[in-house]
Amino acid sequence: MQAAGKLDGAARVIAIVNQKGGVGKTTTAVNLAAALAACGQRTLVIDLDPQGNASTGVGIPARARTLGIYDILIGECAFAEATMRTDTPLFDIVPSTMDLSGAEIELVGMPRREWRLADALAAARAADEACYDYILIDCPPSLGLLTLNALTAADGALAPLQAEFLALEGLSHLKRTIDMVAERLNPRLKLEGIVITMIDRRVRLAEAVADDVRAHFGAIVYRAEIPRNVRVSEAPSHGKPVLLYDLNCSGSRAYLRLAREFLQRENLLPSPSGGGGRRPVGLASAA
Ligand SMILES: Nc1ncnc2c1ncn2[C@@H]1O[C@H](COP(=O)(O)OP(=O)(O)OP(=O)(O)O)[C@@H](O)[C@H]1O
Ligand SMILES: [Mg+2]
Repeated sequence: MQAAGKLDGAARVIAIVNQKGGVGKTTTAVNLAAALAACGQRTLVIDLDPQGNASTGVGIPARARTLGIYDILIGECAFAEATMRTDTPLFDIVPSTMDLSGAEIELVGMPRREWRLADALAAARAADEACYDYILIDCPPSLGLLTLNALTAADGALAPLQAEFLALEGLSHLKRTIDMVAERLNPRLKLEGIVITMIDRRVRLAEAVADDVRAHFGAIVYRAEIPRNVRVSEAPSHGKPVLLYDLNCSGSRAYLRLAREFLQRENLLPSPSGGGGRRPVGLASAA
C-alpha cells in the first residue's frame, strides 16, 4: 500500500533516541504517532532500526516490505516511494528492511555519511513529494551512524527513559552526544523532551529515579508518564498501536496525555495555564 502523504517545510522532525536498549523508544514512536494522528496531525514514522519493530508493530510484516529507509539512505529511491500507509488514519511509515542491518558499515564509506537522511528529507521537501505535521524517527539502541543521521536530520530529540538504576547516567551521556551533534552537525538540535516509560510508581526505586530525573532535567521532562501496562506490550503482536488495540487502557490514556502535552508545547493546544492554542484538536481532550 503506497501512502499519499506529503512532506512540506512545516513538518517537524523528532528523533526518538536513547542508546540504551528496551527503554520504550519504538513503543513511544508508534504510540505517540498514533495519538498525534488521533489529534488530527499528519504523522510519519521513520523506522531507522534494523530490528524493524516499529514496522511490525503497525502491522507491516517483513515480507510486505519492499522498499524502506535503507533504499532512501543509499539514494536508491525517493521518500514517497518507500512510504506506506498504516491502519491508523493520518499515520504513515517508512519501514525498515533487512538491508538496514548492514547500513552502519556501508554508510561509513559514503559521501555526506551523517547527512544522508537530512539530504533525503530536504529533497522530498523540495520536490513537494509529501506533507506531514510531524515526522518521528525511531532510532536503534546505539549512537552509531544511523542514529547520527537521525540527529542530523531532526529539529529536536525526545528521549524515552525507563526509571531504573543508572538511567540518569545513560541520559547524561545521551545529552552530551546531542550537544556534540548540535555543535558540529546540526545547530537546530536540542533535547526537547524526556518521557518516563514503563513506570510502576508502587516500586520505590522507580519513583526515586523518576523524581531524580525531574529534579535534574526540570521542565523538559513530560508530566505525562507512561505506566507499565500489559495492553501496551500486547498491541504490537496484533500489528496495532495501543490506541487501536484498546483505547481505554491506561497505556492509551497515557499516550493521549503525552500527545496533548506535546501539542501544548508546540502551541497547538492551550496549555493548562491558559496559554495560546492555534486550533482545536478532537481526541486530545479525551485523555
Ligand atoms: N508502557 C509499557 N508497558 C508494558 N510494556 C512496555 C511498555 N512500553 C514498552 N513495553 C515493552 O517493553 C519492551 C521494550 O520496548 P521497546 O521495544 O519500545 O523499547 P526500545 O527502546 O525501542 O527497544 P530497542 O532498544 O531494542 O529498540 C517491548 O517488549 C515493549 O512491548
Ligand atoms: Mg526499538
